[in-house]
Amino acid sequence: MWTRRDCLKLTLAAGAAMALPPRRARGEGESAEELVTRPIPSSGERLPVVGLGSSASFARAARGDEREQLREVLRAFVGHGGRVFDTAPSYDDSEEVAGRFAAELGITGRIFWATKVNVAGRGGGTADPAAARAQLETSFARLRTKVIDLVQVHNLGDVPTQHGILKELKAAGRIRYHGVTTTFPGQYGELVRVMRAEPLDFIGVDYAVDNLAVERTILPLAEERKIAVLVYLPFGRTRLWERVRGHEVPAWAAEFDAHSWAQFFLKFVVGHPAVTAATPATRSVEHLVDNLGAAVGRLPDAAMRRRMVEHVAALPG
Ligand SMILES: NC(=O)c1ccc[n+]([C@@H]2O[C@H](COP(=O)([O-])OP(=O)(O)OC[C@H]3O[C@@H](n4cnc5c(N)ncnc54)[C@H](OP(=O)(O)O)[C@@H]3O)[C@@H](O)[C@H]2O)c1
Repeated sequence: MWTRRDCLKLTLAAGAAMALPPRRARGEGESAEELVTRPIPSSGERLPVVGLGSSASFARAARGDEREQLREVLRAFVGHGGRVFDTAPSYDDSEEVAGRFAAELGITGRIFWATKVNVAGRGGGTADPAAARAQLETSFARLRTKVIDLVQVHNLGDVPTQHGILKELKAAGRIRYHGVTTTFPGQYGELVRVMRAEPLDFIGVDYAVDNLAVERTILPLAEERKIAVLVYLPFGRTRLWERVRGHEVPAWAAEFDAHSWAQFFLKFVVGHPAVTAATPATRSVEHLVDNLGAAVGRLPDAAMRRRMVEHVAALPG
């Protein structure tokens, strides 16, 4: 009988552009453990190292003609053992569309829902607590769940107010984990301050083979403070695709089971021991399967990861 790993390998080997038949992640003798997992430091609960994001192309699809194909993306995601779905109220219709399709597919309970709260904007604004609570209630309704796995304060907006509400919700059992996010280097100093001062389960930050700034302080501090890390922008959205256009994946990437550029980029970020999961966005089943393939097989060690950085930096063009 074919295992999910066989299916992923087959698809990757063939460079197939078709959707694999959906398979159940649990209950048919298969489990998400076939994907490489990492523990959430604050609880020990394990998550597959590759998830699914929902801004960028996913959000564009959610508000347009490609909306229906997101149903197949979610079906394939869970069918192949994916769990972490990262979204936010500000990602157009993503939260609503994902919540509705997951409910229709009967997979709501198999997804690790990671959403966000922010009614304060980025940086120095203040959050009206009533508005923040209302936004959170809208997320519960859109995701059609009584308990949300993770809510993070988006872009460090008024952390005292909004993270305070998240701590209350966790104490009340309505959310399981809380955290804060930023992908703006100008906010890294504030992120470090919050990581030192607050009891966080998670942070979400940008990290990629050509964007290493979080390696200096933020990832070591996450390990020290036992904070889980979600990696955003693992492809730099379109930046890395432009960087490698016209270049083949190096043959030595097979040494850590990477068979595409997506797997090369994702295995680089999840190869860092502080990283819990990366959540690349996609609106395509083909790309989703490609991305989940990065959670299969070996991961690069520190020496190999240095080689990967040097290789991408040296690419002509
Ligand atoms: N502050 C925050 O909280 C924050 C900020 C930024 C991002 N995030 C989260 O992080 C997630 C990831 O970031 P992102 O979506 O901005 O950028 P990203 O994941 O670095 O890149 C997404 C882009 O890569 C393409 N892509 C995905 N898989 C591919 C594959 N296998 N082959 C070729 N192209 C592929 C997608 O297009 P296709 O649809 O065509 O595949 C899309 O254009 C977001 O969706 C969001 O959930 C959070």
